[in-house]
Amino acid sequence: MRTLPTILVFDSGLGGLTVLREVVKSRPDAHYVYVADDAFFPYGHHGEDEIIARVVPLIGELIAAHAPALVVIACNTASTLVMSHLRESYRVPFVGTVPAIKPACAKSTTKRVSVLGTRGTVKREYTRALIRDFAQGCDVTLVGSGELASLAETALSGIEVSDAAIAAELAPCFVGDRENPSARTDTVVLACTHYPLLMDRLVALAPWKVDWIDPAPAIARRVVDLLGPSGIEADLAGAEMIFTSGRPHRLSRALMPFFGGRVPA
Ligand code: DGL
Repeated sequence: MRTLPTILVFDSGLGGLTVLREVVKSRPDAHYVYVADDAFFPYGHHGEDEIIARVVPLIGELIAAHAPALVVIACNTASTLVMSHLRESYRVPFVGTVPAIKPACAKSTTKRVSVLGTRGTVKREYTRALIRDFAQGCDVTLVGSGELASLAETALSGIEVSDAAIAAELAPCFVGDRENPSARTDTVVLACTHYPLLMDRLVALAPWKVDWIDPAPAIARRVVDLLGPSGIEADLAGAEMIFTSGRPHRLSRALMPFFGGRVPA
C-alpha cells in the first residue's frame, strides 16, 4: 500500500488556513498537520530576530514529531525572514508564502498596486527587494496593518467585527483619483494569509473595485510541483490541528471547509 504523505502547514494563527484550503484541494489524499503558533501571535508585532529565534527551532521540533514530507510556511511575516534559515537547518522541502508583487504588477493596468501586509512584512528588506526587482514600472504602495490579522481571527471565531474597524485598515490601499478609474489603484496584494479570511468584507468595504491577489493557489501549485499530483480522489488521511498555547480548540466543525470537509482532531 502507498504511504500517504504528511503535509505540515504552519502559521502564527488561523490565517494559514486560507493556504491549507488550496493545498488540500490539490492533494486531498495527504495527511495534514496544521500548526498555529498562537502562543506567539501576532508575529507582525515581533522583531525580526525574535521571529527567527522562535520559528526555526519550533519547526525543527515539529519535523521531529510529525515527519512531514513537506512543510508550508503559510505566513508572510515569517517567510520573508526564515526560509533560508530553515533550508540550511533541515532537509525537508519547504514552501514559503511571500508577497505576490510580481504577478500583481504584471496584471495592473493603472500601474498602481498596493501591498497590504503586517507591519513586519512591509518593513522587510525581502519585500523591498521584490518591489525593486519586479515592480515593472508600477507605483507600489506598502500598507502595514496593525490590526487586520487579529480582526480576521476575531471574525472567524464568530465575534462581530465592525465595518469601520476593517475599513480603517483598508483605506490607505486606495490611492489616486477616485473619480478616474485609469488613475487609481486597481490591484491589492493580500500579503498576509489572514486577510483572505475577510474576503467578502474587503470586497464590500473597498471604495472601488480592485483585483485582490491571494497567493494561495500558486502555493498549492508549488506543493504539487514538489510532491507530485494526488494519486487518489478520496481524503483518507485525516487532519490534525495544533495550537502552541495548548488551548483546546472549539472551532473544529467551523473549520471543516478549510480541511476539505474533514474534522481536524
Ligand atoms: N498570517 C501572517 C502573515 O501571513 C501574520 C499574522 C501575524 O501573526 O501578525 O503574515
